[in-house]
Amino acid sequence: MSKKLNLAIVGATGVVGSMMRDLIAEERDNWGEIRLIASARSAGKQLNVGDETIEVQAISPEAFEGIDIAHFDLPDEVSAEWVPVAAEKGAIVIDKSAYFRMVDDVPLVAPEANPEAVRERPRNIIANANCTTLTLVPAIAALHREYGLESMSVSSYQAASGSGKAGLEALYDQVNATTPANGIGTRPDDVRAQLGEEYNEPFGAPLAWNVVPKVGGWKDGGWTSEELKVRNESRKILSLPNLKVASTCVRVPVAVGHAQAVHATFGQDVSADDARALLEKAPGVTVVDDPSTSQFPTSIDVAGKRGIVVGRIRQSLDFPNSLEFFVIGDNLLKGAALNSIEIADLVRKELTE
Ligand SMILES: NC(=O)c1ccc[n+]([C@@H]2O[C@H](COP(=O)([O-])OP(=O)(O)OC[C@H]3O[C@@H](n4cnc5c(N)ncnc54)[C@H](OP(=O)(O)O)[C@@H]3O)[C@@H](O)[C@H]2O)c1
Repeated sequence: MSKKLNLAIVGATGVVGSMMRDLIAEERDNWGEIRLIASARSAGKQLNVGDETIEVQAISPEAFEGIDIAHFDLPDEVSAEWVPVAAEKGAIVIDKSAYFRMVDDVPLVAPEANPEAVRERPRNIIANANCTTLTLVPAIAALHREYGLESMSVSSYQAASGSGKAGLEALYDQVNATTPANGIGTRPDDVRAQLGEEYNEPFGAPLAWNVVPKVGGWKDGGWTSEELKVRNESRKILSLPNLKVASTCVRVPVAVGHAQAVHATFGQDVSADDARALLEKAPGVTVVDDPSTSQFPTSIDVAGKRGIVVGRIRQSLDFPNSLEFFVIGDNLLKGAALNSIEIADLVRKELTE
């Protein structure tokens, strides 16, 4: 076997970067040097990858010298600037920001759906889809392969950590600032008064004791950026450019785990039992679905799990060829770090085996 490839985790101090360090520690023997990169604010910090302590380097062109694969876990605008620099230095970049996902000559990959796309990377860049799309794709791709997906309507229930370290900290701060008050959960004016206006950040409204129907920035027609990502990224990953998608993305006061209620219509009839049997065998999917014993997935049960979990599978009563189901995935694992680890493994095997 040829030499082991060198890896960089760029954004190693963030919530996704931290998950990346944990996952890479589990497969440490597959890789050569591991380099940790973040902003100049974090330079010199000592972080662990398993038992190994590694000093964080400030991002710079030189930081990418000798790196074969670079996992980018940075805000969109920072990725926009630095991904081309790393690619120019010869690294194959796996980028989790939204910046390159819809670019024509950048593959957008979920290995359960389109693993072959990693080989088409003329710019040395592979994009990782957004967390909501990724926690749906393993299930919807398996159903699509068998029954031919024609349309889907998705309502999400998304965790605070989808907004990174700042989002997670804001939820903890808000819950800690409000929990002791009597009746706080039922009196919204009290929540706003106690939290103050600054607690509209970063979600656009207080998240403690609340459900917030806005994820991402505003776009034309009253859509949010997250809702358009679900539509556009699903179409690209599934190679269904005309797939009909309706999506409403909602933030809920959950730390980790994006849930989605899905109504999907196929080109042929599909029973709940057949769909359940198919999903039980689908890669990356676990089924937890038994009304007789009240078994269904919840976000806290799925947080920390590698695959996505599907439950509440029902044949639609009023819509032909349609299913209703509920799916949850850890937004930091399958929704981010795990998917890019899986992409890196495909590239590693291509380059070294
Ligand atoms: N959170 C999720 O569920 C999720 C899921 C899918 C995709 N993503 C995407 O993954 C990326 C990272 O998200 P996150 O949630 O991990 O965010 P985060 O917790 O806020 O971490 C951001 C990281 O970016 C680094 N950074 C910020 N500005 C920088 C600069 N100018 N130069 C170099 N490094 C800089 C930070 O380093 P410092 O600590 O030094 O500031 C930190 O390591 C984003 O593109 C996000 O959209 C996130």
